[in-house]
Amino acid sequence: MSASNPRAAARALGIDIGGTGIKAAVVDPIAGELVSERIRELTPQPSTPSAVIEVVADVARRLEMTGMLTPAMPAGAGFPSVIKDGKPMTAANLDHTWIGAPVREMLEERLGRPTLVLNDADAAGVAEMAHGAGKGQRGVVLMLTVGTGIGSALFTDGQLVPNLELGHVEFRGHDAETLLSGAARERRQMSWKKWGHEFSDLLAQYEFYLWPDLIILGGGVSKELGKYQKYLKTRAPLVPAAMLNTAGIVGAAMAGAGAVGRTRRPSRRP
Ligand code: BGC
Repeated sequence: MSASNPRAAARALGIDIGGTGIKAAVVDPIAGELVSERIRELTPQPSTPSAVIEVVADVARRLEMTGMLTPAMPAGAGFPSVIKDGKPMTAANLDHTWIGAPVREMLEERLGRPTLVLNDADAAGVAEMAHGAGKGQRGVVLMLTVGTGIGSALFTDGQLVPNLELGHVEFRGHDAETLLSGAARERRQMSWKKWGHEFSDLLAQYEFYLWPDLIILGGGVSKELGKYQKYLKTRAPLVPAAMLNTAGIVGAAMAGAGAVGRTRRPSRRP
């Protein structure tokens, strides 16, 4: 993801496609703020490409009807998969028929606007680095989103290393997110104490590989940090995400608008 782009669009549609919900809003990518209402729909089940694209198109249509989303605005979408050349390479929490589907092209066609697709945790991380808990932070920053799955995004001196998939490292003989995502915590009926202890061991594993200077925790479980923070023993400081349920939308819009790495409007020349 490149740094500043003086031609970044002033407004963009941000879409956050997840295993559980699909959220979208019109965003001012430079300010890092939503400028329309945020619309949320459940991810259809089965979450096939045609069903998901239909929901995204419907959400965009509703934003168009408010007058806030106009034809000139580009779009960005966070997608819960490794994304290469606009296509998902994996589908841990979506229908497997997504693998290899040209999601970027499909969205461009249905939305009728230029669209960029990136991993959902990368999108949330991009927003947190520019406008939230990672603002101005140099060195190695690890952003984790713990919800339906475990997403991860890595930054070095503010530069994204895309598609890091830490949710799928082996933990106690299993794929980590199947034991410790927010959904897995509920499924396993774990107390915050038990989950916190196990998650702390997973964080130790991540720290052993990556030696981050800061860990930002996002996703649904970060809202409950007070309930388990005391069980997390990390070397690097761990802070909650600042933007919570808007980070994914804002980061996707920033990427779509070409505004990644830019957080201030260019000053006008006299
Ligand atoms: C996927 C990641 C995604 C994360 C959060 C994982 O299962 O492999 O790509 O970022 O879930 O949605």
